[in-house]
Amino acid sequence: MEVCRQQIFLTVALVLMTGSLAQVFSFGKCPQVQVKENFQLESYLGKWYENRRFFAIFEAFSSCVSANYSLKDDGHIKVVNQGYIKFLKKRNVAIGDAYAPDVNQSAKLKVKFGNAPLGDYWVLDTDYDSYSVVYSCSGYGGIFKTEFSWILTRDRNGLSETKMLELLYNMSSSGINVKRFSVTDQTNCPN
Ligand SMILES: *[C@@H]1O[C@H](CO)[C@@H](O)[C@H](O)[C@H]1NC(C)=O
Ligand SMILES: *[C@@H]1O[C@H](CO)[C@@H](O)[C@H](O)[C@H]1NC(C)=O
Ligand SMILES: *[C@@H]1O[C@H](CO)[C@@H](O)[C@H](O)[C@H]1NC(C)=O
Repeated sequence: MEVCRQQIFLTVALVLMTGSLAQVFSFGKCPQVQVKENFQLESYLGKWYENRRFFAIFEAFSSCVSANYSLKDDGHIKVVNQGYIKFLKKRNVAIGDAYAPDVNQSAKLKVKFGNAPLGDYWVLDTDYDSYSVVYSCSGYGGIFKTEFSWILTRDRNGLSETKMLELLYNMSSSGINVKRFSVTDQTNCPN
């Protein structure tokens, strides 16, 4: 019985992962995006809720996702990401470190979790107190690319529909395929 259940779980996981690889990789070049001008890190700190995301394997099945950014003594940012996997009733926490390698491009952050390689975390747009648009893209010879993107909100319930449409419209205008977003479940959260 137990073996059978595990096999079903593995099969489902494989099917989902194969489907999602298509979501992570896509053909074409990375779009030329503008980042937030004169990005003010101090105003960006604190807690954010994930409103929507592009598929990312490290977030598979996670609902109730939030991030808390705080300043460390060395000027880097401590990143505390929390999530909840409902069907396992399991909370997960990932602690990372972020910083802007180039002082003149303060919205282009690098972030690192454990032994994973440094990843890009570019803030394209934020008003600091209601929304943030985060994006990163790695190109491979101009043939295909991998992208990550998140819309974060200060309020767990997100934004007004008008504001959200404006954000998505602006992202589309920059060449980002916003159809790849899925809305993060922020209901019945334990945290
Ligand atoms: C965010 O992290 C900082 C530093 O660890 C902590 O002081 C603060 O209470 C946290 N905020 C929330 C909302 O969890
Ligand atoms: C940042 O910009 C200033 C003024 O344009 C320049 O003098 C400085 O070299 C730049 N710093 C870096 C690390 O690029
Ligand atoms: C969308 O883009 C326009 C034009 O650049 C800008 O004025 C506006 O503030 C942007 N909207 C949001 C919600 O960022």
